[in-house]
Amino acid sequence: MDVRAAVFCELSDLTQLPALLASEPYRRGPVLWLGGGSNLLFTGDYPGLVVKVALTGITVLREDDDEVVVEAAAGENWHGFVQHTLAQGWAGLENLSLIPGTVGASPIQNIGAYGVEVKNCITEVVCADLHDDGAERLLATADCRFGYRDSVFKHEASGRLLVTAVRFRLSKRPQLHTGYGDIGKELAAMGKGDGASPRDVSEAVIRIRSAKLPDPLELGNAGSFFKNPIIDAGAAEALLARHPDLPHYPAGAGKTKLAAGWLIDRAGLKGYREGDAGVHARQALVLVNYGHASGREIWALAQKIQAAVMERYGVQLEPEPLVL
Ligand code: EPU
Repeated sequence: MDVRAAVFCELSDLTQLPALLASEPYRRGPVLWLGGGSNLLFTGDYPGLVVKVALTGITVLREDDDEVVVEAAAGENWHGFVQHTLAQGWAGLENLSLIPGTVGASPIQNIGAYGVEVKNCITEVVCADLHDDGAERLLATADCRFGYRDSVFKHEASGRLLVTAVRFRLSKRPQLHTGYGDIGKELAAMGKGDGASPRDVSEAVIRIRSAKLPDPLELGNAGSFFKNPIIDAGAAEALLARHPDLPHYPAGAGKTKLAAGWLIDRAGLKGYREGDAGVHARQALVLVNYGHASGREIWALAQKIQAAVMERYGVQLEPEPLVL
């Protein structure tokens, strides 16, 4: 179902920022900074100002025989940027192909897929300080406090630092990550088992994602609706004793990450549908809107899934998109 913002504008030039920050709708609030919108669930109209960050531009800052540092503006489409870097022969982002959304959202979420997180390639995040007339602030990677689908931008910096551009260090001597899931198998099927290039890895990722994950332009969805839960290793062991085939990964000292998709799937909810709100038939972690489900209906389905997984496995699932 469509939702509306009380006031909407686009920020396409940083020189407009001070005027925007001084404007009546901004001062009145609330304010939502929008990238591609692919990781949001609106449960109703937005009562304040929505600003679409439409800053564009890709600039090479440094380059030598081994690597390049490239800056991309926040409003650049993520996948378009990844394809651009690969076309230039720069490696590093190939496993993150076809992720919906914008460059500016990538550090906020620390987007990740197929064994790679974007933090691995980020050198600095360029921000505007909204509490200081939009003055530029440069955050080094350590200041971003990246975690699993997490960063400082979801915490202390939220509402204060607007990501305006991201700087990436990319390599001209690629080290491919093909160990995760089906990538090796897909490369072999493409006849690229040996000597695959970063573009081949990108193609493999595109094929796997297209087969499993619905295209948000065709079937409304926000990607994985829940994060993979990270629980105490002891609790995980007890769970694994009862469910030895539950996919799990080490997640730092004394912690284990579980596959939420498996938990939802085995709770019998894969393909489950209530009206136009449903659990995707090929990936249980993705909730889809078959047409006219409202954000509230999607949210009701999400809560039902949380309750079912809690009852069956004693594990709390946390939503991954921002629910408004
Ligand atoms: N699984 C099932 N049934 C399902 C779904 C998954 O049994 O319906 C099992 C799979 O067989 C596999 C395990 O669960 O053993 C993990 O599944 P998958 O490799 O598909 O990845 P995921 O953990 O479900 C995460 C990310 C995705 C990312 C993939 C690939 C999160 C929340 N999601 O999903 O990211 O594309 O890994 O790296 O971490 C997103 O964040 O929006 C997103 C799509």
